[in-house]
Amino acid sequence: MSDIITIPGAIDLHVHLREPGTNPAETIKSGTLAAAAGGYVLVCDMPNNPGNPTWILESVKEKQRIITKDAAIEVLVYAGAQPESQNLDELPKMAKQCVGLKLYGAPTTGNERDYEAEEFAAIIETWHKAAPKKPIMLHAGSGNLSGFIQLIAKKYNHPLHICHVNSAVAVELIKKAKQEELPVTCGVCPHHLLMSSHDEKSRGWFARMQPPLAHQIEAEKLFDHLVNGDIDVVETDHAPHLAENKWLAERENPSGMHDGGNRTCYGVPGIEFALPLLFYQMKRGRISLERIVEATSIKPAKIIGIEPPKKEITWEMTEYRINDDDVASASGWTPYNGMMAVGKVKSMGMK
Ligand code: DOR
Ligand code: ZN
Repeated sequence: MSDIITIPGAIDLHVHLREPGTNPAETIKSGTLAAAAGGYVLVCDMPNNPGNPTWILESVKEKQRIITKDAAIEVLVYAGAQPESQNLDELPKMAKQCVGLKLYGAPTTGNERDYEAEEFAAIIETWHKAAPKKPIMLHAGSGNLSGFIQLIAKKYNHPLHICHVNSAVAVELIKKAKQEELPVTCGVCPHHLLMSSHDEKSRGWFARMQPPLAHQIEAEKLFDHLVNGDIDVVETDHAPHLAENKWLAERENPSGMHDGGNRTCYGVPGIEFALPLLFYQMKRGRISLERIVEATSIKPAKIIGIEPPKKEITWEMTEYRINDDDVASASGWTPYNGMMAVGKVKSMGMK
């Protein structure tokens, strides 16, 4: 392997930069610096800002003002809507400013329960009318994926992206929808590929996120689906939380109950390491450079309807063990500590 490679800048369809909001684990500045350190030139920010969800145009604008002032790389913003957000009137206004719409169909940071697809019927109809080409990004629940595919991709032929798949069953359902020529895509996170549910046993809340880590056999199947293209993209779900909040959840709720009455702290940071972790898998012969570039740059651009990035990143392909000292995110820790990686960003330039 050559010591230096130059590839198109990466696009992450799924980050949580936390600003403006009440979670101090990241800012737009620190999160985009972490993304740049990881070879990203564009990230798309999710709407579930703790204490300040992006449910109205004014919140979108507030976020965009901070982006203009502080972001180290390009940032696009998702609108958010939930059955309880009561923001149908805001959706057409936000649609003009946003890259897509994010729906949470399951409990996670910012919402507490599983939903039926039908509960989102009015939201989906309104978004489809306002922005027929701007994707709906779905955090699916355990049993509602088919319902959402029917309602969004089949009924409206609206582009639907299934975020962070964590089971081969979900991938098979998505594959079936693609065979029926429905406009459905999906993404997988590095933690679902390279960690497993067993890590929860040893690392507690530092390995808890939504959707949860999969059994190793399932994680290996996900990797195969990424390699053969059934899974379209890698998205990081960079979801920073302070280590002290992970500790609080660990002390108060070690078995990881999610019943509203218990403290939870779902999500892990790690955008700096997504490509280096993949490059190490490439070194081991598990995935090609071509597929990595497609899954982290070309396809994500296609999903949000933009041209592939013109900016190129030059990587120095040295091998190392990831260490908390390598962390650029303000959260200050990484679930990938101790894992093997290849590649540090050397420079960023135009083609
Ligand atoms: O683990 C997660 N953390 N999953 C999500 O869907 C949200 C995220 C967060 O915002 O912390
Ligand atoms: Zn997320």
